[in-house]
Amino acid sequence: MNKTVRAHTNIALIKYWGKKDPKLRLPLMSSLSMTLDAFYTDTSIEKTNGENQFYLNNKKQDETNSKRVFSYLDLLKRKFDCHDNLIIKSTNHVPTSAGLASSSSAFAALAAAFCKYYNISVDKTELSRLARMGSGSACRSIFGGFAIWQKGESDESSYAYALVEEPKMDLHLLAIELNTKQKKISSTRGMKDAQSSPFFEPWIKRNDLEMKQMIAAIKKNDFTALGKLAELNANEMHAINLTAQPEFTYFEPNTLRAIKLIEQLRNEGIECYYTIDAGPNIKVLCQLRNSKEIKERFERIFNSVNIVDASFGPGITYLD
Ligand code: DP6
Repeated sequence: MNKTVRAHTNIALIKYWGKKDPKLRLPLMSSLSMTLDAFYTDTSIEKTNGENQFYLNNKKQDETNSKRVFSYLDLLKRKFDCHDNLIIKSTNHVPTSAGLASSSSAFAALAAAFCKYYNISVDKTELSRLARMGSGSACRSIFGGFAIWQKGESDESSYAYALVEEPKMDLHLLAIELNTKQKKISSTRGMKDAQSSPFFEPWIKRNDLEMKQMIAAIKKNDFTALGKLAELNANEMHAINLTAQPEFTYFEPNTLRAIKLIEQLRNEGIECYYTIDAGPNIKVLCQLRNSKEIKERFERIFNSVNIVDASFGPGITYLD
């Protein structure tokens, strides 16, 4: 009996970067994302008479690397009164912890695999709430296309839903993998430290407006409005990090070189925008007709850089 579940990662166009309740992972802002076809995690669960085990990409993980997964499993076990020891096997088709949001697919897949294994019947809203407790961004990976995580006020009211499950928009993402090493500051830590920035309050205050503007851009299929706002929102998040006390940044010299290249491409009339998560890598938002040219320009400047093309991916998928 194999019960493998696939969850795709998502990239936030309006970011989640601040918690109201760290334990329940309730955010201070709503967020909006695009689920990606190219990056995903497959997870399956088996029972064992031995101790809990976590395998990532066929490698048994040590205690330190398994800690977060096990404490999330404990939460699920307590909630549903299922107390077996389990073997979790995950395969990540996404560089782990390099700012490509592997935790979003990881915890969405784990929540769904757990429910599937125990035949726990949950609807997608409930599944989204469960995934949220593993990693906030994971609640959006339950859905395909464009997903909204409404911040809510409580565990019950903080979950994601699909804005458009199968969008027709011409929107492509090029993930430029400038550095795929494990990041030094986790998202959990970064968004906590960022709250000391004097710009944190204004950032929260802008959330309603930015959500409204992004939803309008999506409904109008307006790539330009979407790209400009996604870039602004990402820069706001990184400006908060740079003005935190003490300050920090995920940017590396190559991140800035990539930003300059995008500005240059735009000056040449090749429309593209960027967004950046908790890592040094850049994700370029563009339209299909320009993606080849943009890719070539990045390859010319960054020797042997790995670039992955992505577009809209589906929500949670049960493989068998
Ligand atoms: C920059 O969901 O990884 O990617 O809830 O602490 O696990 P935790 O954080 P996580 O943060 C994601 C931050 C982000 C923006 C986003 O995806 O909205």
